[in-house]
Amino acid sequence: MEPIVLSNEQVFDIVSESEIMKYAEKAEEKINALYQKTGKGSDFLGWVDLPEKISEHLLKDIHETAHFLRSKIDVLVVVGIGGSYLGAKSVIDILIHNFNALLSERKDPIILYAGQNIGEDYLFELLEVLDNYDYAVTVISKSGTTTEPAIAFRLLKHHLETKYGKEEARKRIVAITDEKKGALLELSKKEGYKTFFIPDDVGGRYSVLTPVGLLPIAVAGGDIYSLIKGAKHMMELCGPKVPFDKNPAAVYAATRNALYNKGKLIEILVNFTPQMHNFSEWWKQLYGESEGKHGKGIFPASVDFTTDLHSMGQYIQDGQRILFETVISVSEPRNSLAIPHEEVDADGLNYISYKPISYVNKMAQLGTLLAHVDGGVPNILIEVPKLNENYIGQLIYFFEIACGISGYMLDVNPFDQPGVEAYKKNMFALLGKPGYENASEEIKSRINKMD
Ligand code: PA5
Repeated sequence: MEPIVLSNEQVFDIVSESEIMKYAEKAEEKINALYQKTGKGSDFLGWVDLPEKISEHLLKDIHETAHFLRSKIDVLVVVGIGGSYLGAKSVIDILIHNFNALLSERKDPIILYAGQNIGEDYLFELLEVLDNYDYAVTVISKSGTTTEPAIAFRLLKHHLETKYGKEEARKRIVAITDEKKGALLELSKKEGYKTFFIPDDVGGRYSVLTPVGLLPIAVAGGDIYSLIKGAKHMMELCGPKVPFDKNPAAVYAATRNALYNKGKLIEILVNFTPQMHNFSEWWKQLYGESEGKHGKGIFPASVDFTTDLHSMGQYIQDGQRILFETVISVSEPRNSLAIPHEEVDADGLNYISYKPISYVNKMAQLGTLLAHVDGGVPNILIEVPKLNENYIGQLIYFFEIACGISGYMLDVNPFDQPGVEAYKKNMFALLGKPGYENASEEIKSRINKMD
C-alpha cells in the first residue's frame, strides 16, 4: 500500500529548502532520542513502538469484546475527556457513514460521547435519549480521577442500573484505565467490570492505538487490525535509520520549526473532507498539549474547507501574516457522485455538468493553495490516497512521532501537561474538594473582589 506523502515546496517563499536543511541534524538527533528513550519525558514513550508491540492476544480480546457489545446494543456511550476520547472520535467520524444515525438499515451501533464537558443540558438530554435505546458504556480514564468523566459515569451507571438492573448493567460497562492505581480501577474491581489497561508509559493524547481508541473504533465497525498495520507501516518510514529527506515526520517537524522561527506562530490544519473535522480536534490536542509550554509553541488551529473559506477565509488570506497551513489532501473519495446536467442552465452550472464533486473540490483546493501561498501563508501538503483504516493509522503515527520530534526541537517535554492543573486547582477549591481548603479561602476572596 502506498504511504501518505508529505511535500513542503509551498513554504519555500518563506523558508528556503537550505534553511530547512539546517534543522535536519537536530531533527535526526531528536528521532534518536525518541527511539532510544533518552529525551525528556522518557517514561512516556511507550507509544513509539506500540504498533509493533501490541499483542495479538490484546487485539483479539478487544475484537471479541466489541463483537459482544455490538450483538447487544444500538448505542455505545464513550465516557472520557481529552486523549481519552478524541482519538476514537476522530477515527470513527472518518470511517463511519456520515449519516449513520439516520439510516434505518444501520448495521453498526451509534457512538455517543459523555464526560468531555460538564454541560447539564448535554447530560440530561443524553440520558433522555438513552431511555429509548439499548446501550452500553465504556468509561475511559487513565488517572481514573478526572472530574468530567467521573460525573458523567456516575450518572450513566445509575441510569444503566435503573434501566437494566445491577447485574445486566455490569455486563454493559467496560472500563479502560491504569493497571495499578486510580479510583476507576478500584471501582471496576469492586463491581467486576470487564477492564482493559492503558500502558503505564503511554499518555492520554498518545493512546489512540491502545484499547482507549481501539475498543470504541471496533464497536463502531472499524477494522483495528488495518489501523495498526497502517501505523506500523508509518513507523518503518519514520524510524531513526531513514535519512532526513526521506523521513516525512522529520521533514514536517523541521519545516514547522523553521516557520515558527520566522514568526509563523499559528499552524492551521486544513481538510477538504468534512468527516475529518474531529481528526483536527485530536491533532489540536496532540500538538497544543505537547508543545505549548514555557511561553513557547506553535498555536494549533483548524478549519474545514471549503466551509470555512466562507468564514475564516478572509482572515487567512488577508489578516496578520503569522499563519501557515498544513493541508490534508485526500486523493480519492469513497463514493462517486457527479453534477447533473440541466436542459435550462438557470444556475449557470452546466459548465461543470457530469464532473465528479471531488473534481470540483480538488479545483477549490488548488485555487485555495495558490491564493494562500500568494497571500503569504505557506502550505505544507499531506497527500492521503483515501480515507480507510490503513491510511488513518499512517496519519496517526506520522503526527504522533512528528509531534515528539517537534516538541524536542522546541526543547519542551512533549509528554506532560502541567498547565492543565491550574484550572483544576481553582475549581476544586471553589467546589470545596477535601484537601483544597487552604487554597479555597484565597481563591474565594479573589472571586469576591471580581463581583
Ligand atoms: O493527554 C492527556 O494526558 C490528557 O489530555 C488526558 O487524556 C485527559 O486529561 C484525560 O485524562 P484521564 O484519562 O486521566 O481522565
